[in-house]
Amino acid sequence: MKILVTGGAGFIGSNFILYWMKNHPDDKIVNLDKLTYAGNLENLKEVEHNPNYTFIHGDICDTEVVEKAMQEVDTVVHFAAETHVDRSILQAAPFVMTNVVGTQVLLESALKNNVKRFHHVSTDEVFGSLNLDDPNKFNERTNYSPRSPYSASKAASDHLVRAYNITYGLPITITNCSNNFGPYQFVEKIIPLAITNVLEGQKIPIYGDGLYVRDWLYVEDHCRAIELVLQKGKIGNTYSVGGLTEDINNLTVAKKILRILGKSEDMIEFVKDRPGHDRRYAVDWSKIKNELGWQPLHNFDKWLEETINWYKINQEWWKRVKSGEYKDYYKKQYG
Ligand code: NAD
Ligand code: DAU
Repeated sequence: MKILVTGGAGFIGSNFILYWMKNHPDDKIVNLDKLTYAGNLENLKEVEHNPNYTFIHGDICDTEVVEKAMQEVDTVVHFAAETHVDRSILQAAPFVMTNVVGTQVLLESALKNNVKRFHHVSTDEVFGSLNLDDPNKFNERTNYSPRSPYSASKAASDHLVRAYNITYGLPITITNCSNNFGPYQFVEKIIPLAITNVLEGQKIPIYGDGLYVRDWLYVEDHCRAIELVLQKGKIGNTYSVGGLTEDINNLTVAKKILRILGKSEDMIEFVKDRPGHDRRYAVDWSKIKNELGWQPLHNFDKWLEETINWYKINQEWWKRVKSGEYKDYYKKQYG
C-alpha cells in the first residue's frame, strides 16, 4: 500500500503513522502537513529516516501541493484539520478553510488520481449534544446537528466526502470517533492540559459545573479501528468509534488524574463555561464491533494511567510545546 496521510504531524496522525509503519513495514507513507501550531515533527523522529516514509510540508488547500502528494498513492487517510473547539470560537475562518475547502481539494485530487480508498477521519461532535438522561447514543444513523464552528466545519466535510462517493463514485469510508487521548496530544485538550498543569503545580480549569460528558477513546485503539476499516470496511460506509460503555463526566476525569498523581482535589478550579458547550457525547460503537470485530484493548482507567506515565516521562516534549505559541493562547483563553 502507498498511503497519503494528511495531518500526520498532529496527535492522531503521528500515532497512526508510527502504528502503521510498525505493523506494515513494507507499506509506503507520504505525510502531508502544514505544520500549524498543532503539527510537531518531533513526534515522528522514530521514522524520519525510514526510506518508506516521506514528509511533504504543505497545505491541503493548495491544489498543486496536493496533486504532487497524491502521485502513485492508492489510499488516503485524511486527518488534517483545525481541531480545537475553543479556538474555533475565537476564530472560525481557518476551520472553514482547512476542514471544508481543504477536504474538497483532496477529494477532487483523489478522484482524478483514481485512489482506491479515501478514508475520512471525523468526529462524534457532528451529531450535536445529548441530554444527560437521554437513553440514546450517537450511531451511524444519527442526524447531523453540529453546534460549534469546529463541528459545523467537520459536518460539512463529512457531507462532501459522502457526496463524492454518491455523485462521482469515489470509494470512501468515514469514521466518526469520540474524544481521543494518549501520547503526543497537544496540551490544549483537557486530558493533557490537566496532567501537565498538575505536573507543573497549576490547577485544572474545569468549565461550568464540570458535569459535561465525553466518550474517551485511547489513540492506539483508534488507530486499530482505522486499520480495520481500511482492511475490511464497506465502501461508502460510516463507522462510529467510541471507547466507553458508561458515562464519565469531566469532573470525574479530573479527579481520577489527581488521584493517580497523588494530588488533592483542591487542584480543581471552576472557570467560565465554553459558549454553546455540548452537554454530553455518548457513542454506540456496536457496528464496528459486530461487523469488523473491533473493541478497545483496555478500559479507560488503564489507558489513563498509561497516558499519565507518558506525560511524566516525556516532560521535555510537552514543556517545549507549552513554551511556544500556546502561552499566548492560554492567556487569551483562561485570563
Ligand atoms: P491535531 O490538531 O493534533 O493535528 C492536526 C494536524 O493537521 C496538525 O499536524 C496540523 O499541522 C495539520 N494541519 C492543519 N491544517 C492543515 C492544512 N491546512 N494542511 C495540512 N495540514 C494541516 O488534530 P488531531 O487531534 O490529531 O485530530 C486529527 C483528526 O481527527 C481531525 O480531523 C479531527 O477532526 C479528528 N478527530 C479528533 C479527535 C480528538 O479527540 N483529537 C476526535 C475525533 C476526531
Ligand atoms: O468528540 C471528539 C472531539 O473531541 C474532537 O472532534 C475534537 O477535535 C477534540 O478537540 C475534542 O473536542 P472537545 O471539545 O470535547 O475536547 P476538549 O478537550 O476541548 O474538551 C473536553 C471536555 O472538557 C469538554 O466538555 C470541555 C471541557 N474542558 C476543556 C478544556 C480545554 C474543560 O472543562 N476545561 C478546559 O480547559
